[in-house]
Amino acid sequence: MGSEVESVQDVIRVRQSGPLGGLVQVTGAKNSALKLMAATVMAPGRHTLRNVPRIADVAIMVELLEHMGAAVDWLSVDGVTANSLTIEVPDMLIPEAPYDLVEKMRASIVVLGPLLARFGEARVSVPGGDDFGHRPIDMHLKALEELGATFTTSHGVIQGRVEQLLGARILLEYPSVGATENLLMAAVTAKGTTVIDNAAREPEIADLAAFLNGMGAGVSGAGGSTITVEGVEHLHPVEYTVVPDRIEAATYLAAVGLAGGEITIEGARADHMEMLLDKLAAMGLQFDDGGDRLHVVAPERPGRLASVDVSTLPYPGVATDYKPLLVALLSVADGVGILTENVFAGRFRYIPELVRMGADIRVEGHHAVVRGVRVLSGAPVRAPDIRAGAALVVAGLAAEGETVVADAHHVARGYEDLVGNLARLGANVSIGT
Ligand code: EPU
Repeated sequence: MGSEVESVQDVIRVRQSGPLGGLVQVTGAKNSALKLMAATVMAPGRHTLRNVPRIADVAIMVELLEHMGAAVDWLSVDGVTANSLTIEVPDMLIPEAPYDLVEKMRASIVVLGPLLARFGEARVSVPGGDDFGHRPIDMHLKALEELGATFTTSHGVIQGRVEQLLGARILLEYPSVGATENLLMAAVTAKGTTVIDNAAREPEIADLAAFLNGMGAGVSGAGGSTITVEGVEHLHPVEYTVVPDRIEAATYLAAVGLAGGEITIEGARADHMEMLLDKLAAMGLQFDDGGDRLHVVAPERPGRLASVDVSTLPYPGVATDYKPLLVALLSVADGVGILTENVFAGRFRYIPELVRMGADIRVEGHHAVVRGVRVLSGAPVRAPDIRAGAALVVAGLAAEGETVVADAHHVARGYEDLVGNLARLGANVSIGT
């Protein structure tokens, strides 16, 4: 594809829209699907994963599995590619994640635990900085060392080795999602019992544990702060459906908050978004929880949402991934809201873009002070990462004129069809020219 064509398609155009109406279906969670795919390497044979989002990050994980020697295929129904993947894991794999793939997707490091568990060795390129700045993996390595692994790093590659992983009690100094996942996967075939204290509690961790148990693992307590893993010798392939994406669901909640109207989000699990829904309810959105669907109603226009203060925290706190969406909502709410980022220090890069759209936001350390304005004004902006890109798109729904979001490939990393879904809800949004 020529660069000219790429640059035309790498743009999302949005016009002021609303009220929205209708029904939207969320896909499986990116941040679960990637880990389940990595976990398949622990059991040779044919795995089937359903409800997998067809997004760029999943394509990179497919590339990584293929690089190692697995055969990965999307299933088709009546000639149309469905959201199901088969992964055929051979008896032997190349236990490595090369730089070109780790650089494209930092989440590639979740193969470390599974590879050590299965082969007693793993070579993974050191992830560099990313859109949020420097993100260390010290907790991943320390936890795996406590199970008996040793690591050396040279020429930009982390080399891990272990004769036999041994169960242990591990206290994580912080409930890191990635460290919990690497450790959990490594512990599954470790000898004896592993207890992970201060584990991350995100719904995607519980999903990974359920998947591993489907493979024959003995994991209990996942979703809580203490996870216990009784090591087993053998795992088998599994067929599994990925948990719905709570961040994608939140994106449509923000869209209706910004554009008005009422929509139904199929697959949205209110029980996975409780703190967020409390905040959005305090702002004036109304919800009807149908278990695995959520109906949301925005205040009648010209009514505005009310401002609130929000702090991001590990689950069950308000996720850092929701924050750009919340800043977009607060930028047109009535009053002043203070957002405090406690998870990723550098995650404010989209704020100058919202300010270009007329938002009144001041950043002080890890706080963003957002003074709501009545209406934003469409402008050319740039998506710095997946969630911020989506937030700029939905902010455009509340901006007079046209907003053109460049670097839209970031959005495609995490959303299967954000533009199509918003358009079907009645938004004036399109890709490229
Ligand atoms: N941290 C360390 N050392 C470590 C690991 C983490 O200092 O060894 C720090 C990080 O630098 C960060 C904090 O701990 O300040 C939290 O990091 P965590 O490990 O919990 O996050 P992650 O596993 O790297 C996942 C999601 C992110 C999401 C965070 C927080 C995936 C692929 N990524 O990242 O999602 O924001 O948890 O919930 O699951 C996204 O989807 O766009 C995304 C960035």
